[in-house]
Amino acid sequence: MVLVADVRQAQKAESLGADAVIAVGQEGGGHLGRTDTGTFVLIPRVVDSVSIPVIASGGIGDGRGLIAALALGAEGIEMGTRFIATKECVLASQGYKNDLISAQETDTVVIKRTLKTPGRVLNSEYANKILELEAQGYDYQALKDYVSGETNKKYINTGDSSIGYGWAGQVVGLIDDSPSVQELFDRMMVQVNDFYNKEII
Ligand SMILES: Cc1cc2nc3c(=O)[nH]c(=O)nc-3n(C[C@H](O)[C@H](O)[C@H](O)COP(=O)(O)O)c2cc1C
Repeated sequence: MVLVADVRQAQKAESLGADAVIAVGQEGGGHLGRTDTGTFVLIPRVVDSVSIPVIASGGIGDGRGLIAALALGAEGIEMGTRFIATKECVLASQGYKNDLISAQETDTVVIKRTLKTPGRVLNSEYANKILELEAQGYDYQALKDYVSGETNKKYINTGDSSIGYGWAGQVVGLIDDSPSVQELFDRMMVQVNDFYNKEII
């Protein structure tokens, strides 16, 4: 299964023998594609361009997102950010989870565009420092200590956004709590069942 962010990558993955692709739209958390294509357009485009199953990713955090993904032609979904704010995600500090809960959909930024490896993170002073250095033309050598996995870990472990950055997607706007995964799935299934039980005129 290969994570892709545009039609070309999906077709390449299929031609190399991938069983399925996960297509991630630009609202997703973590590393993104370079085309800035949102999930709502990306998924049907990829579905129409390959014959292997497509898993929708990017911006999905509840049952409504799941229903929408299926309506767009996906066979399933992948969620990233939503799972960080769950009881089972013991690697994430309470501070990281609290930041996800309090953040709105407008509280993320994309770092590392200038390195051609864009990634969406929670907006913070630290993230803004990275953006400032990028705007000043810093290259990878100069930026690597700021954007390293180590600085990401520092934030994950402590929730201290003055010493590191945290991956997160725009779906933070839909995250208000840190339930167990079972509770999350139960809630999602209520939304799905309510939807399918609706009388559609
Ligand atoms: C904390 C975090 C860590 C991630 N780490 C990886 C990773 O190591 N490799 C990867 O391919 N994608 C990674 N992703 C991206 C996810 O696979 C997925 O594409 C993305 O989270 C989907 O968008 P969403 O956050 O809106 O659900 C990560 C995402 C988050 C939030």
